[in-house]
Amino acid sequence: MTQKIWYTYDDIHRVIKGLAEKIRNSGIKYDAMIAIGGGGFIPARMLRCFLEIPIYAVTTAYYDNDHEGKVTNEVKKIQWLDPLPEVLKGKNVLVIDEVDDSRVTMEFCLTELQKEDFDTIGVAVLHEKIKAKAGKIPENIPYFSGITVEDWWINYPWDALDIDQHNELAAKGRN
Ligand code: G4P
Ligand code: MG
Repeated sequence: MTQKIWYTYDDIHRVIKGLAEKIRNSGIKYDAMIAIGGGGFIPARMLRCFLEIPIYAVTTAYYDNDHEGKVTNEVKKIQWLDPLPEVLKGKNVLVIDEVDDSRVTMEFCLTELQKEDFDTIGVAVLHEKIKAKAGKIPENIPYFSGITVEDWWINYPWDALDIDQHNELAAKGRN
C-alpha cells in the first residue's frame, strides 16, 4: 500500500518561501507565472506574495487509461492560453504546479508552451518526488523545486473536506 503524507497550509507556505528564494537567486527575472490547474492554482497565488508577478492559468486533466491491461497516460487540455495574450510574447514565464510526480503532465504542458513565442520558460513545483519519471522536462528549461520528498501519496490541504482532521493527521505524521 502506498504510504501517505499530509501537509498543512503552513507547511506549504514555508516551502513556497524557500522556493521563491531559489527562483529569485537564479538570475532570471520572470515576468509572469503560468499555473497548471487545479493543483498549481493555490501554490501560484501563495508564490505571488514573494515574486510579485501576475498569474496566468492553464488547466489539464490526466487520464490513466487501462486498455486491455496496457496502461497509457493521457493529458488533455481543459483550458489553454489560446490565443496567447500579446503581453506575454517574448517574456520569461514560470510554469507552476504542486507536484513533480511522473512528469507526464509537466512534459505535456512545457512542450505545448514551447510552441509559443516566449523567452525563457522555467518550471517550479512545491514537491519533487524522488522516483523514476515517465515524462521528461525539455532541455534548457530551468527547474526549481521547494523540497524533495519520497514517493508517497501527498494529501494537500485544499483537497481536505475536514481541515481540522487533515491538520491532525499532518501533526501525527510528523511524530
Ligand atoms: P507531473 O507531470 O506534474 O509529475 O504530474 P502527473 O502527470 O504525474 O500527475 C497526474 C495527476 O496526479 C496530477 O493531477 C497531479 O497533481 C496528481 N498527483 C500526483 N501525485 C500526487 C500526490 O501525491 N498527491 C496528490 N494529491 N495529487 C498527486 P491533475 O490531473 O493535474 O489534477 P489536479 O488535482 O491538479 O486538478
Ligand atoms: Mg495538477
